[in-house]
Amino acid sequence: MHSRNTGGWRDLYSDWNSMIRDIVSCRRCRLHATRKNAVPGEGNVNSKIMIVGEAPGRTEDEMGRPFVGAAGNLLTKILRGFGVDRGDVYITNVVKCRPPNNREPMNDETETCSIYLLSQLLLIKPKIVIALGNHAGRWFADRFNLQWPGISRIRGRVLEGRIMDLELTVVPTYHPAAALRKPQILKYIESDIGKAIELSKRKDSGKDHAEGRKTLLDFIAGSSPSDKS
Ligand code: URA
Repeated sequence: MHSRNTGGWRDLYSDWNSMIRDIVSCRRCRLHATRKNAVPGEGNVNSKIMIVGEAPGRTEDEMGRPFVGAAGNLLTKILRGFGVDRGDVYITNVVKCRPPNNREPMNDETETCSIYLLSQLLLIKPKIVIALGNHAGRWFADRFNLQWPGISRIRGRVLEGRIMDLELTVVPTYHPAAALRKPQILKYIESDIGKAIELSKRKDSGKDHAEGRKTLLDFIAGSSPSDKS
């Protein structure tokens, strides 16, 4: 598959299980050398909502699961406030391995890893993406060929775009880790996540999401995403 806004990837995955296998054993970039566990993502692969963070932190690296440290606990609590269990949505990161000392992912690491997030998006076909933090928000703005003015200027806005044949609505907001350092921004994260959840309900055309949006390929034995990762 080739397209300008997929970054030119020709080898996107059409099989969920091989993608997960490749993520956990990935050696495409330098981060494999320092990680304990790659973190593919987890949750409901039939969800209309996908939540995308930057990269795993220490706890996530130890457990191989996304958003299970302090920022993750806050995210789980915010979702629960809207009646959403974290298992109801699919949660992942732009970069699947922890950068040493929680530094920001480098551009080449992000680009190399993008094949996985692109494949996850094209297989899950979410209606709404909540992009947590500057890095995740900018990743989507880049795919949509939009200028990225920084998270504090664009949070809470509704970005519409397309990745190959997938039409996506993205709501960027601050990363929950930022609210642990600056509690005054928690109200913005809550409001933006609430807005995204409301939008996802309005976008529900009444047709079952899994049947309405997935392609035939998704239902061929072995190519359907499992609910595990
Ligand atoms: N921060 C992230 O961006 N992702 C995680 O999974 C945990 C912390």
